[in-house]
This record gives sequence, structure tokens and C-alpha cells, in this order.
Amino acid sequence: MTGRPAWTETGKRDAAAAEEINVTDDLHVVVLAAGKGTRMKSAQPKVLHRAAGLPLIEWVVRAARALRPVSITVVLGHGSDQVREWFADDESIRFVIQEPQLGTGHALLQAERVLTKRRGTVLLLSGDAPLVTKASLERLVATRREHGASVVVATADLTAPAGYGRVVRENGGLARIVEDRDATPAEREITEVNSGVYAFALASLFEALRGLGTSNAQGEYYLPELVAVHRQAGHVVMAERLEDADEIRGINTRAELAGVGRLLQDRINGDLMAGGVTLVDPSTAYIGPDVEIGADTVLHPFVFIEGRSTIGAGCEIHAGSRILDSKLGARVTVYNHTVIAESEVGDDVHLGPFARIRPMSTVGVGAHVGNFVEIKKSTVGDGSKIGHLSYIGDSAVGAGVNIGAGTITCNFDGHAKHRTVIGDKAFVGSDSTLVAPVSIGPGAYVAAGSAITEDVPAGALGIARGRQANKPGWAKARAAGKDGGR
Ligand code: UD1
Ligand code: CA
Repeated sequence: MTGRPAWTETGKRDAAAAEEINVTDDLHVVVLAAGKGTRMKSAQPKVLHRAAGLPLIEWVVRAARALRPVSITVVLGHGSDQVREWFADDESIRFVIQEPQLGTGHALLQAERVLTKRRGTVLLLSGDAPLVTKASLERLVATRREHGASVVVATADLTAPAGYGRVVRENGGLARIVEDRDATPAEREITEVNSGVYAFALASLFEALRGLGTSNAQGEYYLPELVAVHRQAGHVVMAERLEDADEIRGINTRAELAGVGRLLQDRINGDLMAGGVTLVDPSTAYIGPDVEIGADTVLHPFVFIEGRSTIGAGCEIHAGSRILDSKLGARVTVYNHTVIAESEVGDDVHLGPFARIRPMSTVGVGAHVGNFVEIKKSTVGDGSKIGHLSYIGDSAVGAGVNIGAGTITCNFDGHAKHRTVIGDKAFVGSDSTLVAPVSIGPGAYVAAGSAITEDVPAGALGIARGRQANKPGWAKARAAGKDGGR
């Protein structure tokens, strides 16, 4: 939000609220997330559906956290266990349960027992509206404090306001909010809508909430009704109009989830490009919010980079690749359709096309892992080459090693996994099977086509295959019907 706030003021300052301005005005955040989200048609609570890589409620909580509030309280109901589980490691969030769910006003009332202090500001957010920005929230809180308002509601003008609560003004000032279902045809024409985000004075909040009634189309306790309640009590009520109406977009359907996800992704991609990353086609770059990418890295279309991944500078990631919770050094080339998960890749490495680096692997500086190679829970030393069609699992591959095409580490005997150790500068011939546990010493050779079941000492040649026999003249004899095919 930029420029002057389009707030309007009605009524007088409420004395208690005004007094707070002179003392420390603590900020408390409450996030409403008890609703079922019926229209999502999902077994999962709505706020756990993901947009641009994070559950909706995580986006909301992050926006809240950016304001460094004294407390964050989440009101849960439907699917409360699942939501709690998402925040399992986070002790900074408090949960209250709303059961049954009797409306947004009733939901906020549930926070009364944890918000025991009676001074400060309550910033109320919806768990299903993840686009709201830190800047807008700060503005809302500042306006409330500055004017000692009992409620400041964030609003926006929508071309299609259907479904939202409408902002009814009198003489330019905020008068009340009427829900779509309860609105008259004339009120439905109003394009200024309630965002569902508010800053309240804690001093007067819970008393006013207890005064709410349920005489409306849904028979629920409506939170927006607080505007009229406070106004009648002669308190300051204000509306702050956000310039970017997208910020208030809430999610009720899967189509809205996709639309909001797109906007969140655009923000992430915009930031990356501003930081010097080339996105060949930003509309198909799917990059999570916690991903870091160095300057001059080029991402081709349909690249997915997720979780806490870090990509160095000057890398090139080709189409169709997916990188999850991994760290890549500088100048790494990832050719098409390569998947990397929970692994670390050094500088100047080449991977793929069609390579798969599975969790707990590291690929050393300058190494090359080529097409149709799978690496699992293994280390590959600096400069080593595994060019084609191999499986390397539970292995330690040294530096400067050459692994021939089609080499397989047989790490599983049907009961347990075993390790393969390959020393520096070893050379493993094509189509070898290394039956673990086994080790190939530094500088050793394995002859192509070997099934290695015993350790090969350093510098030795290991051959483990049937000796070849040639039968002179065999082809001609076969054609003549003698010794055919035997
Ligand atoms: C609400 C507002 C409407 C506003 C819109 C903005 C009310 C009555 N209406 O409508 O003015 O334009 O948001 O998106 O508040 N929730 C609970 N417990 C309940 C009911 C809801 O926790 O008993 C939670 C929901 O999980 C959701 C939020 O409150 O996160 C909003 O509820 P929702 O039913 O989506 O309200 P809207 O009809 O969208
Ligand atoms: Ca809603």
C-alpha cells in the first residue's frame, strides 16, 4: 500500500483506547482458522492447502510474525490436530479451539482466555487470506494507535464484490458492514468490501464481542458487526482502504487457491529477478519462498525448486528439473529432467539429463553425473565421473574415479543394506556389479562386465566374469546345418 491511507473517522476516541497510546501498546495477532472450508471439497483443512509451496496459514503467520507481535494465537476447529501438527515445532504460537463454530465473532471470542491483558492492539487475520502484506498490516496497526480507534477495518474496492461483506458509509465515514446475504439490492451495488482483516483496541474488544447477536441470514455471530456496535457506543471506527485489492483475496475454492498461488509465485519470481536471476519463463518457474538463488543463475521453463534449497551463482538449470531441500554450489549445470533431493552438490558439477540424486548424497566439485544415473545416500568425490545408466547406493566414491556405463552397486541383499567403498582414481569398467559390502582400492581397476564380490586391493585389476571362448568357423558351420546354434 502506498500513498495516503484512505481512512475515514467517525465518533470520538474511546477513552481507554486513547490512553493506551501513551503507554506501551502491545501487538497481539489472532488468526481465524476454525472454519471447515466446505467448498474446497477436501479431507484436509482449508488452511493447510498449499499455495506457492506453503500452507495458506503459514503465509498468514509469516506476515504476522514480520510485525514482531507479543503473541500469535490461532483459533482452530475443523481439522485442528492437522493444523497443530504443521506448527508442531513452533512454541511461539498459541492455539485455542472453537467448538462449535458459531461465526467469526464467536471465533475471536475464544481468544479471550489467552489475551488476558486489557490493553494493546489485536490484529485479526484470516487463515485463508495469504496475500496480505507486512506493509499493509503495519499501516492498519499504526492507524489504530494513532487515532485510538476501537476498530480499523482494512477494505478494498473490487470489481466483483459478490460474496464479501460490503462497507456502508455515511457522510463518507464508516457506518457498518453488511454481509452479502443480508444486504439489500442497493447495498449489493457497493464495491468497497471488508477484507476480514482488522485492528482492534484490546480494551473494548471482548465486551463488545459478547454484545453481538445472531439475527442475520446465517444465524451466526458476525465479527464485522463490531463496527456498528462500537460506533453506537461513540467509539472511533475507521476503514483503511488498501490500494492493491489482490491483498485481500481469500480462498474458498480450489480455483481461488490456484489464482492466489499464482500471485504469490509472481511475488517470489519478481524478487528473484530483481536479485539477478534469469527466469526464461517466469510463468512456469515454481520456486518456493525459502529458496535462495545466486546472481546470473539461469532457470529454464518448468523448473521446480522447493523447500530450503540454495543455488549458487552462475548455475544453469534446464527444463523439467526438480530440486528439493538441496544445496548447489556455483556454476552447476543441471540438464533436463534431473531430480535432486536433500543433497549437496559442489561447484562446477554437471548433472543429468535424467539424473536422480536421492537424499543424503553429496557430489564433489567438478564431478559429472550423467544420464539415467541414480545416486542414493552416497558421496561422490571431486572430479569423479559417473556418466551413464548407473545405480550408486550406500557408497563412498573417492575423487577422480571413473565409473563405467551401467555399473550397479548391489547394496541390498534382501535383508539389509551394505556399503560400497571405491578409492580415489579407481576405474570401474562398464556393466560391472559391485556386490556390497565390498571395496575397490585406490587406483584399482575393475574389468568390464565383472560381478565383484570380494575386495579389489589398491592398484590391482579385478576381473570376475566367465572367460571368453571363440569358436573359429562357427557361423559357416551353422549355415551349413552342422552344429547349428550350439
Ligand atoms: C468474512 C466476513 C466478510 C468479509 C470476508 C473477507 C464475516 C461474518 N464476514 O466472510 O465481511 O468480506 O470474510 O474474506 O466475518 N471462521 C472461524 N470460525 C467460524 C467462522 C469462520 O474460525 O465460526 C474463520 C474461517 O476459518 C476463515 C475466517 O474465519 O478463516 C472467515 O470465515 P469465512 O466463513 O470464510 O467468512 P466469509 O464468509 O468469507
Ligand atoms: Ca472467506
